[in-house]
Amino acid sequence: MKKITALLLSVLMLAVCFVGCGAKGKTLSEVKEAGKLTIATSPDFPPFENLDADKNVVGIEVEIMNIVCEKLGVKPVFEQINFDAVLTGVQSGKYDCGMSGISVTDKRKENTLFTKEYCLAAQVIVVKSDSAIAAKADLSGKTIAVQTGTTAAEFCSGQGYTLSQYEANQDAKLALTQGKVDAWVVDDLTAAELCKGDNGVKILDEKMTTEPYAFAFAFGSEDLVEEINKILDELIADGTIKSIFDKYDAPYTKPE
Ligand code: ARG
Repeated sequence: MKKITALLLSVLMLAVCFVGCGAKGKTLSEVKEAGKLTIATSPDFPPFENLDADKNVVGIEVEIMNIVCEKLGVKPVFEQINFDAVLTGVQSGKYDCGMSGISVTDKRKENTLFTKEYCLAAQVIVVKSDSAIAAKADLSGKTIAVQTGTTAAEFCSGQGYTLSQYEANQDAKLALTQGKVDAWVVDDLTAAELCKGDNGVKILDEKMTTEPYAFAFAFGSEDLVEEINKILDELIADGTIKSIFDKYDAPYTKPE
């Protein structure tokens, strides 16, 4: 009997550790105590995040996080990394938050804690202006440029397309203009921004997917995320988020 109780006890302790030790996210009070929020971002994604002439990260999400941090009473510290390292860096506790035009998916929700969704985006197809590709249906058998670790990569590989993967969106676009790939699949507002004034490429009307964006945290940050959600609710309701999009000439779609 004693043996069974001891066994049960150790199984229980293991289970507690499994849940508890996996939670790497900082709590609200830990972040307030630290006085800062460390935010991992891949600044190749205008108008959400990109680098200005002084290599500072600027964009829609920077403005949103600046307000969020001000309301939390902490300093935002932006850390520039490749997109495919953002979610793992947050999950491991290396960064407190992930800010990278991150689409919320069921798969990502399994190991990431998301804030509420603050906008709705879509994946679009970009081709050369003289391309015969006019819609999704024309993509079979073609080579597609995507950014590594993105929903575009996941969607396109699910469709069986041949992928050419790039760490940064600017390189994916370059592959298209240099004729190394037939198309580039990327988020709509970033496509619009990176193709602005470029007559050599066009964005097709047909959307591949629609996906909402949110900010990413590690499990363990539940009370922090709850507080941030209240702030985001306010910023959506009072039109602040919309006005930030307006400032960047970006059409705002509210998530359902
Ligand atoms: N929305 C897409 C995703 O979540 C692409 C995001 C890319 N972000 C970036 N900063 N490069 O996979």
